[in-house]
Amino acid sequence: MMKTNDLKKKYIDFFKKQNHEEINSASIIPENDPTVLFTTAGMHPLVPFLLGEEHPSGKRLVSVQKCLRTGDIDDVGDSTHNTFFEMLGNWSLGDYWKKESIGMCYDFLINVLKIDKKKLYVTVFKGNDKVPKDEESAKIWKKLGIPEERIFYMPKEDNWWGPAGETGPCGPDTEMFIDTGKEKCNENCKPGCNCGKYFEIWNSVFMEYNKTKSGKYEPLKQKNVDTGMGVERTVAILNNCESVYEIDSFKKLIKKIRENSKNKNKKAERIVADHLKASTFLLAEKIIPSNLDRGYVLRRLIRRTIRYSKILETKENYEEEIIKSVIDFYKEDYPELDKNADFILKEFKKEKKKFARTLKTGLRKFKDIAKDGDISGKDAFLLFQSFGFPIEMTVELGKEKNLKVDVNGFNKEYEKHKKMSKKGANKKFKGGLADSSKETKKLHTATHLLGEALRRVLGKKVEQRGSNITPERLRFDFNFDRKLKQEEIEEIEKIVNEKINQDLDIVKKEMSVDEAKDIGAKGIFDEKYGEKVFVYFIDDFSKEICGGPHVKKTSELGKFKIVKEKSIAAGTRRIKAILK
Ligand code: SER
Repeated sequence: MMKTNDLKKKYIDFFKKQNHEEINSASIIPENDPTVLFTTAGMHPLVPFLLGEEHPSGKRLVSVQKCLRTGDIDDVGDSTHNTFFEMLGNWSLGDYWKKESIGMCYDFLINVLKIDKKKLYVTVFKGNDKVPKDEESAKIWKKLGIPEERIFYMPKEDNWWGPAGETGPCGPDTEMFIDTGKEKCNENCKPGCNCGKYFEIWNSVFMEYNKTKSGKYEPLKQKNVDTGMGVERTVAILNNCESVYEIDSFKKLIKKIRENSKNKNKKAERIVADHLKASTFLLAEKIIPSNLDRGYVLRRLIRRTIRYSKILETKENYEEEIIKSVIDFYKEDYPELDKNADFILKEFKKEKKKFARTLKTGLRKFKDIAKDGDISGKDAFLLFQSFGFPIEMTVELGKEKNLKVDVNGFNKEYEKHKKMSKKGANKKFKGGLADSSKETKKLHTATHLLGEALRRVLGKKVEQRGSNITPERLRFDFNFDRKLKQEEIEEIEKIVNEKINQDLDIVKKEMSVDEAKDIGAKGIFDEKYGEKVFVYFIDDFSKEICGGPHVKKTSELGKFKIVKEKSIAAGTRRIKAILK
């Protein structure tokens, strides 16, 4: 049996041999990109480098990245869809191009994973009025021995990837499929058909374009390759498993769920396993259930778990055992799981309790509403707002009674609610990671000054918990357990402005993580041993591990002002600040 960890190791080793540097999984919360809630692909943390910034680990990179996709949440429980998954990826940042990339893909699949060459099918981009047909990739595949009848030209809907958010790097791709040997579902069945005959395992994106805010595709400064291979799917196909839930990373979870259930229901078991795993990873990053954005996604995952557990008639608090199992399986690669285990379990329980309190009255309300037939968007929103019913739960409850739910109407109400809420208002800011305008650079440098000023005024224990920059403002989350006093805010502003006025140089130095630690650089320090990083020095005031970009001199920043300071969770404060 090929295990999850074997595949990861084989992949990393193979690309290291091809002169790639291994980089660590980034956070599941995208840094500085307000246009998406979660990291959905390995390329996401690399956006600035795909746009031309220099990466401290060089031009060839390889990683295993934790990802979350909620677009397919309704498909979870079938044989291939998960919300949380791991993605293997390798990148050329303006280095090799199609021939080498496809060559390496082929070599890894056929010679390392020993996949039968006859089972390999590929798709390439068919072309449209803006980008030509990708005959170059097709030719390379043919040269490697893939016959024409196993190469399919597909339109943009299938063979184009990105951008990950609203803007950023993207391009045509070539995708690799394995024939499972099942019968074709009809005459036209081909790779891309989701009947289960062809299993997609790898995607190599030729990133030549940058999609701008106005919807234009501009040529990128450099031609990049971005590949992504889903770990769960690949392990499943290598072991001839019928679904991703049969592989090692799920097997134990499913078994434990079954042991704790009165009823057997395959779909419910799978949903619970998937959602509990995803919730564990989100809680490990200190996301807390709420009615907004990331918190809402987490709430939906937890509440769906509870609902499907009811169908299974599970034992009380059995989730704890499943969560611990998830932590155990992944803790070596993701130390934050073990480190935050208490927090994860505590917050999960809290949310469960909260839901239990409103569930009964909510169900009563639902029955009441359902008496009048189909459920309007307004009523679905009422159930969400007052009783915490995630929309898909209302839809599922409706289905049981043969009632339709106006999901579009609900979404409209939800959007309204988000707009009114301040956090949701971030969405209106333009930019994201793909934006490295002068303004965001300045604010990025200001963030480093702020972090250090906070430590000097509030104490050394202060650490960054998150940051988000748009061209208009910076947002900085940190650990502190009370409201800041007005004098403290003024003192922090004073220090930052002093540093700006001293016109200090910002200097970037490359070093290993250990050297960075030794010199006392601030940073998240989740990089692997030996990994190279950039440390940005602002004279001798601040030193921080960071990918950049930054301005050259502090005098470029102008005047720094804190516009808001508030609590966002127990023990976590948020500052918003601007430069005038
Ligand atoms: N970004 C592409 C994907 O997610 C390849 O890594 O499939």
